Amino acid sequence: MKNFILSPSIIASDFTHLADEIAACESAGADWIHVDVMDGHFVPTITVGPLFVEACRRATKLPLDVHLMVSNPDQQLEAFAKAGASNLTVHVETCSNLLQTIKRIKSLGCNAGVTLNPLTPASALDEALPFVDLILVMSVTPGFSGQVFMPEMIGKVEEIRNKLNALRSNTWLEVDGGINVETLPLMYRAGASVFVTGNAAFKYPQGVGQGIQALRNSVAA
Ligand code: DX5
Ligand code: ZN
Repeated sequence: MKNFILSPSIIASDFTHLADEIAACESAGADWIHVDVMDGHFVPTITVGPLFVEACRRATKLPLDVHLMVSNPDQQLEAFAKAGASNLTVHVETCSNLLQTIKRIKSLGCNAGVTLNPLTPASALDEALPFVDLILVMSVTPGFSGQVFMPEMIGKVEEIRNKLNALRSNTWLEVDGGINVETLPLMYRAGASVFVTGNAAFKYPQGVGQGIQALRNSVAA
């Protein structure tokens, strides 16, 4: 079994059983819990905010991998850090001073992540690369779970992996959107080390536990 991080996206779960859904992820060997924060402005959908992150924090000791799809993330960082976020990932498209934002996230005691929409080139990260803890490549246009994986993003992951290798960096390289048992191995081979999965985990016919196991086993030993 290959070593990589699985971060199930909790917005695809049944919120009436939040603690049970998180416990099922945990006992199936999930490494992180991914929380998709959407503001109805940067993306069309509205999902959850710091109160929800705080509820997740009370339900698990796993790291909370918070993906901020919001305009003006700088105004929200402190609230999410206080709510118990472990990783705070912002979109480069929303930051006027990316290095400043990264510094602020770290000063709040969180791992600093940056993410790119599919149309944003990898070069948008160049100045931030030496300073970030996590890079997230979106393999769908953000806004919804259950969309189809964009194979064009495989090359972007390879490009970023090469840049990280050149820096001898062990920054996490995460992918998000349409990741399932077929697409996970493609992104693994391209150099991704962290995989977000919404539908492939929570809508798995035999339940989330087996869904996570299937994802874990999708990369041959
Ligand atoms: C998309 C979100 C994703 C999404 C993943 O905007 O950032 O995290 O919930 O869901 P799937 O794996 O179903 O594409
Ligand atoms: Zn996400």
